[in-house]
Amino acid sequence: MVMDIRFEQVDFTYQPNSPFEQRVLFDLDFQIKDGSYHALVGHTGSGKSTILQHLNALLKPTKGTVTIGDRVITPTTNNKNLKPLRKKVGIVFQFPESQLFEETVAKDIMFGPKNFGVSEEDAAKLAEEYIELVGLPLETLKKSPFDLSGGQMRRVAIAGVLAMEPEVLVLDEPTAGLDPQGRREMMAMFAHLQKEKQLTIVLVTHLMDDVADFADYVTVLEKGRVVKQGTPNDVFQDVAWLEEKQLGVPTAAAFAKRLQEKGWTFNELPLTAEALAKVILTKEGLAHDE
Ligand SMILES: Nc1ncnc2c1ncn2[C@@H]1O[C@H](COP(=O)(O)OP(=O)(O)OP(=O)(O)O)[C@@H](O)[C@H]1O
Ligand SMILES: [Mg+2]
Repeated sequence: MVMDIRFEQVDFTYQPNSPFEQRVLFDLDFQIKDGSYHALVGHTGSGKSTILQHLNALLKPTKGTVTIGDRVITPTTNNKNLKPLRKKVGIVFQFPESQLFEETVAKDIMFGPKNFGVSEEDAAKLAEEYIELVGLPLETLKKSPFDLSGGQMRRVAIAGVLAMEPEVLVLDEPTAGLDPQGRREMMAMFAHLQKEKQLTIVLVTHLMDDVADFADYVTVLEKGRVVKQGTPNDVFQDVAWLEEKQLGVPTAAAFAKRLQEKGWTFNELPLTAEALAKVILTKEGLAHDE
C-alpha cells in the first residue's frame, strides 16, 4: 500500500460552538510522501500535535480533507471502520510513557498487536523482538513498567507502537527528556527502521540538528499555518529567517554562518557536522574570494 498523506485546505477547531472554541489549524495544504522522513517543526502551540492526531483520524478536520493512503478523512467521516487505518499509522505521542498501564512490560507491548488481532503467541514474539530493538534487555519484559527509569519507560512505550508494525511511524518529540546517548541511539534506531522496513516517518521535533541529520523534507508551521516547506537544504539556507523566527539553526549551519562572517564563502551552508568537516577538509564547496 502506498501511504502518501495529503492535507487539503484543512482547518481544525477545538470544541466548536462552545465558549471554549479555538481554531488552531488554518487552511493547511501539504503532502507527506510515502517512504519519506518528514519533519514538522514550529513553536510550541503551532499545531504540530494537532496535525499528528489527524494522521489516524483521532481528530477529523473541521473543514477540508486528509488523505492517508486509500483513506479519505473528511469532517463527516464515520468513526466506524477506522481500525485498518490505525493499524497502519502508529503514533508515539509526546511523553508516551504516561500511557503505560499493564502490570508487566510484556503485556504492555503486546496490548497493541493483540488489539489488532495478533495471537498471544505471536504478540509475545513481537514483544521480544521490539524490546531488543529499542535497546532494552529481554529480562525487562517481566518487570513492571513502573519500576523502570523514565528513559526505559519511553523505550517500552515506543516498542509498543513498533510492535504493531505500522507503515507510517509518527513520532512526537520522541527523544525529549532522554540523555544524549539515549537520544542518539533512538534516532539511529528510527533511521535504521525506516530503511529496513521502508517506513514513512513523520517526526515532530524542536531539534534542528535532527532535522538536518535525518529528514528529507520539512514543513514549518506558525500559529497553525504552513509558512515554509522544502528539503532541509532549502529551508535551512536562510539562517537569517530561522533566527528571526527563533526556530533554531542546525549547529553546523550556525558555525558555517560565523565563518561566512569572517570572510569564508560557501556555495551553500553545510547543515551537518559531516558536511561541514568535508567542506573544511577538502575545500570543495568553498568559493574563493580573489
Ligand atoms: N485538547 C485540546 N483542547 C483545546 N485546545 C487544545 C487541545 N489541544 C491543543 N489545544 C490548543 O491547540 C493549539 C495547538 O496545540 P498543539 O498541541 O497542536 O501544539 P504543538 O505545536 O504540538 O505544541 P508543543 O510544541 O508545545 O507540543 C494550542 O493553542 C493549544 O492550546
Ligand atoms: Mg505538541
